[in-house]
Amino acid sequence: MATRREVLKALGAAGASAALLPFNKAFGASGDSSGVASFTQPLNIPPVLTPSSSTSTADYYDMQVMQTTASIIPGKSTPIIGYNGMSPGPTIRARVGREAVVNFYNGLPATTLGGTTGKIVTHLHGGHLPSEDDGFPTDYINPGTNRTYTYPNNQLPSTLWYHDHTMDVTGPHVWYGLAGFYLLSDSIEDSLNLPSGNYEVPLVIQDRRFNSAGSLVYNKTMDGETGDVVLVNATVQPYLNVAKRKYRFRVLNGSNSRFYRLALSNGASFKVLGMEGGLLPAPVTVTSITLAPAERADVVIDFSGTAVGSNVTLRNTLVGSTSSIYNIMRFNVTTTATDTSAVPSSLRPFTKLNAANAVLTRNFTLSGGMMGGAWTINGAVFNENSPIATPKLGTTEIWRFTNQSMMDHPIHVHQTMFQILDINGNPPPATHAGWKDTVVVPRQMGTARIIAKFADYAGKYVMHCHNLEHEDMAMMARFDVVP
Ligand code: C2O
Ligand code: CU
Repeated sequence: MATRREVLKALGAAGASAALLPFNKAFGASGDSSGVASFTQPLNIPPVLTPSSSTSTADYYDMQVMQTTASIIPGKSTPIIGYNGMSPGPTIRARVGREAVVNFYNGLPATTLGGTTGKIVTHLHGGHLPSEDDGFPTDYINPGTNRTYTYPNNQLPSTLWYHDHTMDVTGPHVWYGLAGFYLLSDSIEDSLNLPSGNYEVPLVIQDRRFNSAGSLVYNKTMDGETGDVVLVNATVQPYLNVAKRKYRFRVLNGSNSRFYRLALSNGASFKVLGMEGGLLPAPVTVTSITLAPAERADVVIDFSGTAVGSNVTLRNTLVGSTSSIYNIMRFNVTTTATDTSAVPSSLRPFTKLNAANAVLTRNFTLSGGMMGGAWTINGAVFNENSPIATPKLGTTEIWRFTNQSMMDHPIHVHQTMFQILDINGNPPPATHAGWKDTVVVPRQMGTARIIAKFADYAGKYVMHCHNLEHEDMAMMARFDVVP
C-alpha cells in the first residue's frame, strides 16, 4: 500500500490555488481530556541513563524501543512507545570531546500504536554528526534489529534531544512517546557555577489528547496535531516542590505542532542563558519567551523572592486563561535552601558569522496546506533520493526562506547550528541571536535568513518543518554536504 507521502508525490505537490486555512484552528479547546485536576501530579524527572561501559574516550549506551504502558492518568494505563519503555526516554548526559555510542534495539512489533509501522529511525536533534549517524528518515531500524549511532560531541555544549525520525510517521511516533533529553556539557560550562544537581531540571512540554480509556488519540491533523492537555515530562500539569533559590530549567517544546509563550503567574522576569545551540554571550532577562516546536530555552528562574508556602505557575500566554492549555505547571515553594550558584553576567564568548563570508545565498519557498494536498519546499514534497541543495564542505552559506502559506513554519536544519540574520527583515531578539537549529518563518510571505557553516561532515542530511505533521506530509528536503 502506498504511503500518504507517495500518494502526495504522485498527485504532484501543487494544486496551489490556495484554499486558505485558518492558523492553528485547533487552538483554544476547552475542557481537558485527561480528567486530571491541575497541579495534583508530581513532576516526573526522567532518569539519567547509565553507560553500559566506558573507555577513556567513549561511553557506550544501550536503549530498547518498546511498546508498553505508562501511568499518566491515575487509575488508567496508557499505551506508549518508549525508549527503554519510558516517555520521555532516559536523559543522556554527554561531555564535549567524549564520544557517546548509543545502540538502539527496536523491540516494536511490525505495526505499532496508531497503526503505524514499527520501523524506527533515531535522530539526535541539534547534534553535529556524521551523515551515517544522523538518522536519515529512510535509514530504518527494522523491528527485531538494532543500529548503533556514534555521537562525537564535537560541538558547543547545549540542550539537545533525541527523537524518532521515521519517514511519514515521525508525528505519531513522537506523540506516542519517542523523545528524550541529551544534555551536553563541558568544563567551561561547569566553571560558571550555574544551578546544578537537583537544581537543574529538564522540562519537555507536550500537548496530548486522551480518550476515556486513557489512551492517546492521534488524528494526523494536516495543520499539525494538537492536544487539549499539557504534559510536562509526560506528567499532566504537574507540580514541582522547589526551594527558595535559583533553578536552571532546560525547557524543550517537544510538542508536535503547538507553540507556547512561557510566562510566570507572578509576572517575574527570568534569565535566558541560551537556546538550541548553547550559551549566549550574556544572559537575557525576559518576562516571557515563545517556543516553537523543537526550540529550547535554557533558563534560570529565581524563587528567592517567593515566600515559602506560596506558588508560581508557569503559563502559556498564547492562549486565554480559560483554555485547558493555559496552565503548564506549578512551582510550590516549600522550603529555604542556601544557594551558592551563580548566573555570571558573561557566559561564553560568541563568534558572529559574517554574512560577507557566505559563498552564496539559497532561496527556499514554503507553501501548501490545502486540504488533501501537501506541505512543500520549493514546490516539492520530500524526495529522499534527490538533494535540493549541495553546500560544499567547510563553506558558509545564507539560506533564505519565504513562507507563502497561512501557517508559521519552524524550520530545522540538520548537520550544523546556524545564526539568524533576520526575520521579516529585522534582526532576531537577543534571546534568538545565538546558535540556533530551528527558525520560525512567519506565515503570509514572511521571510527568514539564516547563516551556517557546513563543517566537518559530508553526506546526506535533511532540513524540514518541525511541525511534525507538516514534516510527515512532506515539508522536508534532502541536502548533501559535498566534499
Ligand atoms: Cu528534531 Cu529532523 O528533527
Ligand atoms: Cu510547517
